[in-house]
Amino acid sequence: MLSKIYSAAVSGISAIPVTIEVNVSPTGRETAGRMVIVGLPDNSIKESQSRIEAARANSGLSLPPQNVTVNLAPGDIRKEGTGFDLPIAIGILAANFMVAQDKFSRFMILGELSLDGSLQPIRGALPIAIKARELGYEGLIVPQQNVYEAAVVNKLKVYGATTMQQVMDFLNGIPDVLHPTVVDTRAEFYAHQGEYDIDFSEVRGQESVKRAFEIAAAGGHNLIMVGPPGAGKSMMARRLPTILPPLSLAESLETTQIHSVAGQLKSGMGLITERPFRSPHHTVSQVGLAGGTSQAKPGEVSLAHNGVLFLDEFTEFSRASLEILRQPLEDRKITITRAQGTVEYPCSFMLVASMNPCPCGYYGDPYHHCTCSPGQISRYLSKISGPLLDRIDIHCEIQAVPFAELSKMQPGEPSSAIRERVIAARKIQEDRFKPYKGIHCNAQMTERMLHQFAEPDAASLDMLRMAMEKLKLSARAYSRILKVARTIADIAGSEKVESMHIAEAIGYRNLDRGDWAERGVV
Ligand SMILES: Nc1ncnc2c1ncn2[C@@H]1O[C@H](COP(=O)(O)OP(=O)(O)OP(=O)(O)O)[C@@H](O)[C@H]1O
Ligand SMILES: [Mg+2]
Repeated sequence: MLSKIYSAAVSGISAIPVTIEVNVSPTGRETAGRMVIVGLPDNSIKESQSRIEAARANSGLSLPPQNVTVNLAPGDIRKEGTGFDLPIAIGILAANFMVAQDKFSRFMILGELSLDGSLQPIRGALPIAIKARELGYEGLIVPQQNVYEAAVVNKLKVYGATTMQQVMDFLNGIPDVLHPTVVDTRAEFYAHQGEYDIDFSEVRGQESVKRAFEIAAAGGHNLIMVGPPGAGKSMMARRLPTILPPLSLAESLETTQIHSVAGQLKSGMGLITERPFRSPHHTVSQVGLAGGTSQAKPGEVSLAHNGVLFLDEFTEFSRASLEILRQPLEDRKITITRAQGTVEYPCSFMLVASMNPCPCGYYGDPYHHCTCSPGQISRYLSKISGPLLDRIDIHCEIQAVPFAELSKMQPGEPSSAIRERVIAARKIQEDRFKPYKGIHCNAQMTERMLHQFAEPDAASLDMLRMAMEKLKLSARAYSRILKVARTIADIAGSEKVESMHIAEAIGYRNLDRGDWAERGVV
């Protein structure tokens, strides 16, 4: 007897429909049956045989000895993951007339089985739900832990189940076993959008660094902080999402899909409402950062999509890990080549990095003695390659505020006030870049756009030339300065980039200065 169930596999951040055909044929009384799964399954699917048999037996369902053939179609795509356990199990039961097949064509079914017959969460429920609706399915049956992420999709009945038995009973028409989870996605999203439990007002003093953060947020510029331990670098980086424009519904859907495919959404969680903030440790593997090669999984760069990737102790990351960042920073997507073909994940993030100025951490600190030689300091800095530094528009030096002063200071400006200025500056950029596809903010300007939108007048150009010579700035600093100056002008509501905007922008190129290791004070 044959049965046919509908399910789906994930590729990148979209889903591909998979039809599961199950055929059973009885064997002789003494011969144990065997199960064969064909259609390019990976090892985790091949293992499902043991899980399915145990789950069935522990659910009190017995079958006669039989040979089972499972075909996963289309046969030319490699399927991976544990989500096919449930549909295969249901298919076997249906082929044995234990589950009615009349509803099969209306539902997509997915779920991993535990040995006791309960269901475990799967990865990618959201993109699968999107595909199910697109293909006109009436509903989707997933493990209960995945129900909220899938229920984000409207006009699709999403049923969350906790055991295989429940799914059987539901398909057999037993009333009140499963109920669709209904979520008013828009209302839920806007009710919780941009709720952060941290705020910039908690950062006391540090006005110049906050200003740098505001400029970075306004123009979408990557930023690196250089400063001694305890200066508040991590504290401020964490607060960057709170001054970025709120996540739009479309952005949220993209980001949530990535987290869904990575299996990072907590049970009971629907759309992500805050911009992600990812801070992988410097020992992170290249796969952890970029994404999986043997197991298709988005990495940290993609989990930070539409948010912030914070690399603390920047110089401690391996050279290879840092070099990986170059393509994603440029293309805003990452392509991963695997034995089974390539996958692509979006990864448009703001990079915030932090580092100490020297190996001991105290170069230029007025309160501590630095024990490093100029040679050590420049060697330390050279750990970051020029091409990577090229992609970071704002370099920002930071000093610790002494504790005695910290306690006397007033709370700073709240994130909401800073965010308003950021939003206003972004609006100007949106209008400016309307004719240019894929360009949304000043940080993304091409060389040609720079001439068009940020060309300094003759006097400013003279000043810039002089400053570059005096500070021994490398040539690559030039276009960075113009980009940042364009953002500073936008915050000020100025149509033209003026010399004061350029003067401020010059101050954000410290790491390009040829005399970094020779200065007495940073
Ligand atoms: N300007 C500040 N306002 C309020 N609190 C501050 C400020 N600077 C530092 N702190 C306090 O000091 C703690 C340490 O700051 P943080 O961890 O951000 O420092 P850091 O620069 O990242 O240091 P490290 O280099 O050791 O990682 C913060 O959690 C905060 O409590
Ligand atoms: Mg820190």
